[in-house]
Amino acid sequence: MITFLKGRSLVSLHDLSGEEINAVLDSAAALKLRHRQGEQFFPLRGRTLAMIFQKPSLRTRVSFEAGMHRYGGHAIYLGPADIQLGKRETTADIARNLSRFADVIMARVFAHQDVVELARQASVPVINGLSDLLHPCQVLADLMTVREKKGRLAGLKMAFLGDGNNVAHSLLYGCAKVGMHLTLAVPEGYEPDEQVLETARGDARATGAQLEVSHDLGQALQGAAVVYTDVWASMGQEEEKARREAAMKPYQLNARALALALPDAIVLHCLPAHRGEEITDEVIDGPQSVVFDQAENRLHAQMGFILQAV
Ligand code: CP
Ligand code: NVA
Repeated sequence: MITFLKGRSLVSLHDLSGEEINAVLDSAAALKLRHRQGEQFFPLRGRTLAMIFQKPSLRTRVSFEAGMHRYGGHAIYLGPADIQLGKRETTADIARNLSRFADVIMARVFAHQDVVELARQASVPVINGLSDLLHPCQVLADLMTVREKKGRLAGLKMAFLGDGNNVAHSLLYGCAKVGMHLTLAVPEGYEPDEQVLETARGDARATGAQLEVSHDLGQALQGAAVVYTDVWASMGQEEEKARREAAMKPYQLNARALALALPDAIVLHCLPAHRGEEITDEVIDGPQSVVFDQAENRLHAQMGFILQAV
């Protein structure tokens, strides 16, 4: 049992060391095994998670809520109309209030700065459940899934196709820390944030992870053991949908693209999937797809973190 995550927030994977990320994954794997064996235990009895949602969610809401219940705790859903982050009262006051009631706070926000501010002002751990910049919980589940399926992380290559978005940013941070190579294949104009890329490359110096951004699908997929894609228009970008679709169409994850990766490559998608857009039915429903194992691992990975942090 590691204790060095006690009281820690999870705003960005850049804030965790590779050792800490691996320890969370170990903890998550142990929880998953105990659950599979039918064991029930309630280390979070009497503990409460406050969940702030500015955006819709299936996996994030249900995995946190079911996870808290499974381990004896409780989760409170606060939708967009409840708290009205930054409108009804300041973000700082929200953080200070929730810290008096809850043992941990999760927030899904538009502006990344809001989750940074919540973490700065709260006296309990704050978990980023997706911001416009990052999605660290997702990438913990992704790394857990790769480790389960491939037995290791360091030295493997991942290809991410489509948009240099929040998921891509967290993959850059996560891969850098654990020594996985990552090539993003994105159209011109949809490259990842330069600051994120530079920071991740700084982290990658310690692990040898190669982090590349390419406009060439074939180059990204060559030698890839993991192929990942995400929606072309993220939440909040709906009005850009047509323009994004036109730009990203060549980066669709279809059977022809998948054939360019290693023959035993696994397919990841954070979901929700827009079938027929960034991924085809034949790929997401095909034998290489592990997207529902990946979705399940959200619960294990997040609870692996919470059990260490509270
Ligand atoms: N992958 C993910 O975060 O899903 P939701 O948006 O449904 O929570
Ligand atoms: N990039 C997507 C991820 C959804 C889980 C979005 O932000 O909408």
